[in-house]
Amino acid sequence: MKRFGVSLEDNLLKELDSLVEKHQLPNRSQAIRFLIRRNQIQDKWKGNEEVSGCIVLVYDHHKRDIINKSMHIQHDYPNSVLAVQHVHLDHHNCLETIAVKGKAKKLQELADRLISLKGMKHGELVMSTVG
Ligand code: NI
Repeated sequence: MKRFGVSLEDNLLKELDSLVEKHQLPNRSQAIRFLIRRNQIQDKWKGNEEVSGCIVLVYDHHKRDIINKSMHIQHDYPNSVLAVQHVHLDHHNCLETIAVKGKAKKLQELADRLISLKGMKHGELVMSTVG
């Protein structure tokens, strides 16, 4: 572990401290690690590297064909989909979390196809990394 001094303008330091508070980080060092890591992950996704992540979907399973269509799309990416968890939130709504791994562009494409399905109430791709 290396130590180094950081000079920051007041407003940036305020931002850093609000990040510490918002994410309940133990200190500023952890906040800087968090930012570097997030930046690294964004670069990996932009550079179409091998990454991992999670697609979160909420939909009404009564909507015509949405489950079949979602399944059909997922079967186009057998090597990208690691696991699917389906939870029945209430009488209408289902929450699905799909763990994915592979080339960033392919995962983004899969997420876009699912999120844009007719009847999808909410969809989001959480971008993470392999290593
Ligand atoms: Ni359900």
